[in-house]
Amino acid sequence: MTKSVTVVDHPLVQHKLTLLRRKEASTAEFRKLLREIGLFLGYEALRDLPIGKIQIETPVCATEAPVLAGKKLTFISVLRAGDGLLGPMLELVPSARVGQIGLARDEETLQPTKYFFKVPKDISSRLNVVLDPMLATGHSAVRAVQEMKDAGANDLRFVCLLAAPEGVETFTKAHPDVPVVTASIDDHLNDKAYIVPGLGDAGDRLFGTKGA
Ligand code: URA
Repeated sequence: MTKSVTVVDHPLVQHKLTLLRRKEASTAEFRKLLREIGLFLGYEALRDLPIGKIQIETPVCATEAPVLAGKKLTFISVLRAGDGLLGPMLELVPSARVGQIGLARDEETLQPTKYFFKVPKDISSRLNVVLDPMLATGHSAVRAVQEMKDAGANDLRFVCLLAAPEGVETFTKAHPDVPVVTASIDDHLNDKAYIVPGLGDAGDRLFGTKGA
């Protein structure tokens, strides 16, 4: 991918995003819409996958037809909300490997600390797509991608549902080599580091854990 930040502004994506943002959207609706938008985000994030040709026969004739050239993929979920994008990504590429990164926010410094990291061994030969629905301050995204680089990854993408301008700036400064795909760059972050207008807490909305 050449562009460092791609906003998927397709009308279908924007419509579904509006439905998902509504506070009255149920957990089931939220999940369904996140899956649907995730398919479009994945479609965009993977648009430059290398293509080869194979010989096939249709009922009409023999022909050379395009197939994926065998680039190996890893999808990395930043726990826990990243799991909401993992399902649709695996629908697109069922053979992909999966990694997980657990980051907890220190409420005083607002900086992420790592509590879990498990990724395939051969990430240096893979395209690694890091998934986290909310690029808010950017601190978790920067850290997650840094953890991947430290573990040997050199071909990375970052896919999120929503981004704050502050997060985009922080992320692209830290990792200018990593393309970002999102459905929206929202207005700003509030003083609790929530994206405005945003959608609230993505993990709570995905798993129905508000107040737990
Ligand atoms: N994480 C969320 O779940 N929501 C935000 O608005 C910001 C970070």
